[in-house]
Amino acid sequence: PLVEASGMLKNALEGKYAVGQFNINNLEWTKSILLACEEVQSPVILGVSEGAGKYMGGYNTVVGMVKGLMEDLNITVPVAIHLDHGSFEGAKKAIAAGFTSVMFDGSHYDIEENLQKTREIVKIAHEKGISVEAEVGSIGGEEDGVIGKGEVADPQECLKLVECGIDFLAAGIGNIHGAYPENWEGLDLEVLAEIQKTVGEVPMVLHGGTGIPAEMVQDAIKLGISKVNVNTELQWAFAAEVRNYIESGKDKEGKGFDPRKILAKPAQAIIDGVKEKIEIFGSAHKA
Ligand code: G3H
Ligand code: ZN
Repeated sequence: PLVEASGMLKNALEGKYAVGQFNINNLEWTKSILLACEEVQSPVILGVSEGAGKYMGGYNTVVGMVKGLMEDLNITVPVAIHLDHGSFEGAKKAIAAGFTSVMFDGSHYDIEENLQKTREIVKIAHEKGISVEAEVGSIGGEEDGVIGKGEVADPQECLKLVECGIDFLAAGIGNIHGAYPENWEGLDLEVLAEIQKTVGEVPMVLHGGTGIPAEMVQDAIKLGISKVNVNTELQWAFAAEVRNYIESGKDKEGKGFDPRKILAKPAQAIIDGVKEKIEIFGSAHKA
């Protein structure tokens, strides 16, 4: 079923595993993620950045596509459609269009403005039973034009954000969107532990899931991370298979120009990539 995300994340926090947020870009991507999660019976959060939402036609298209796929493919696992790094206006639009979960990312505002805007989104979302993620301390790197400075979060500010009534918390702990540089020092697990101690039983979100060693992700899960966001890694896998198809000259043979043929292996790469992550996160058979 299509659900809000706080229930599945509370279960994850209790069960000491994490639910993957996999970002979607098009029909094939979405279908692959849903098929992979159904196969291993994992709950899932479909992440939609504002840029990807626009690319797919708009938020209504996204909601219609996901609902249609779930019905036609007989998807039975819990699925949330979640706005990723939403702006204040974007979050309101996603709620109106039928998203079941939204992230309001006010991490680039000063803390007071972040808190005030988060409170407002929580009020609108909760009236409709929609879950809310908010962020403090920014995630480094760039995602779809959203640029973060990569500041480690202050536990007291995390607590203030939680007190706004949010359902899950994204806190910068040295994580970065996209590839990690050679000299990356790893996640700041000490700060993560301190944040958890300060905020209590609130599911926490690890952004920038691409390229973090599996063991480090699992250590973070032990410290209260209940949702891990993955985007770039699946884009790499998809692009590598498209490149492989074109460069091997298959697009020139017979019906090789058929988009269904061009995208067959890339779509399979998404299925494989999602299943690999679920294995690390421990969310299989938790649907
Ligand atoms: O919000 C989305 C994620 O934080 C994705 O990060 O592209 O590094 O996997 P990533
Ligand atoms: Zn992110």
